[in-house]
Amino acid sequence: MRTQVAIIGGGPSGLLLGQLLHNEGIDTVILEAKTRDYVLGRIRAGVLEAGMVEMLNRAGVGARCAKEGLVHDGTYIAAAGRSFRIDFKELTGKVVTVYGQTEVTRDLYDAREACGAATIHEAEGVQIHGADTDAPYITYVKDGAEQRLDCDFIAGCDGFHGVSRKTIPASILREYEKVYPFGWLGILSETAPVSDELIYANNERGFALCSMRNPQLSRHYVQCPLTDKVADWSDERFWAELKARIPADAAARLETGPSIEKSIAPLRSFVAEPMRWGRLFLAGDAAHIVPPTGAKGLNLAASDIHYLHDALSRHYKDKDGQGIEEYSARALARVWKAERFSWWMTTTLHRFPDQSEFDQRMQEAELDYLESSRAAQTALAENYVGLPF
Ligand code: APR
Ligand code: PHB
Repeated sequence: MRTQVAIIGGGPSGLLLGQLLHNEGIDTVILEAKTRDYVLGRIRAGVLEAGMVEMLNRAGVGARCAKEGLVHDGTYIAAAGRSFRIDFKELTGKVVTVYGQTEVTRDLYDAREACGAATIHEAEGVQIHGADTDAPYITYVKDGAEQRLDCDFIAGCDGFHGVSRKTIPASILREYEKVYPFGWLGILSETAPVSDELIYANNERGFALCSMRNPQLSRHYVQCPLTDKVADWSDERFWAELKARIPADAAARLETGPSIEKSIAPLRSFVAEPMRWGRLFLAGDAAHIVPPTGAKGLNLAASDIHYLHDALSRHYKDKDGQGIEEYSARALARVWKAERFSWWMTTTLHRFPDQSEFDQRMQEAELDYLESSRAAQTALAENYVGLPF
């Protein structure tokens, strides 16, 4: 089998790239290790930057998001018994849209199936060959039979645990990582959101976040030790802890109910450089991970795909190789700024097990400055709504 662009990974990165390229008549094949249902069963992020919404519209899959997405003009920050609002719209002229990643992925899958582009699920043992030559190809196993896919380019959209990043020689690949000493326990519940916008809470008991998916579906998180297991957290214990960490008025009106999903995720910052090796490109979680505090994971995948689509489109349509040459540097410039913001939000809002009294005072000063300074609020707002692509 042969295609122009082979895409490894049928998550948001791979699907978005595939749709943008297909819409320009560029042939793609997506190789996905799991089933469609498994991919769509993942509960992930929920806040879309304006740039991501624009990418969905450019790919022709933005209609449901426009109809069902919740536009948020700002967010609440709670700390030291007080809460204040950051008004994104007033400070930057931009807003964010709350629309689950699961729905984004579903919309992208529906579009890909509607246009008949090839997606091979349960592709096992994917291996990349000749990425540093002019004739790269992929081998994989499907239904027990060895397959080969010849291509012009390979887009590694296979996430943090995928094969693409590991294909880049260790002598070339540079990795940067910071692991945080806590996790996030998250639940999904068919209860009304506690607030019209998100509440990020820094509390002496730990961080908490009140989010949502729609007016009948809430997504809440509490910081927890890395040693905790989901079984340690009954629904009752979760709701009591969340109430103890969020402002009293929110706690008083919080609607509780059975969790329909409950999981613990570790937090890390990670970047791999370069994001290109020969004809292999890394995009999305394959190249970088951010702690979820800044809601950047899915949105960074969008900017990578913006740059990669531009590079491949210029190659095929204009025989211009400049975008390909510049891809890694362009993508990494925005990646590192999102990594900084996500690190800053995480450091400012969480309680670190080993933090000193001085660290605590720094956190309090940071939050006090944020509450009292338009410049500080503008800095948070412009990063949260998304820096330019
Ligand atoms: N072969 C084929 N597919 C693979 C392989 C492999 N060796 N390894 C992983 N995959 C698939 C996974 O099953 C997954 O569906 O690649 C896909 C990668 O999707 P994501 O992990 O969602 O990464 P990405 O598409 O970059 O989206 C980033 O997802 O994890 C969240 O927080 C992250 O919101 C961000 C978004
Ligand atoms: C979510 O709704 O899942 C969510 C929102 C904002 C974040 C992280 C997660 O910063």
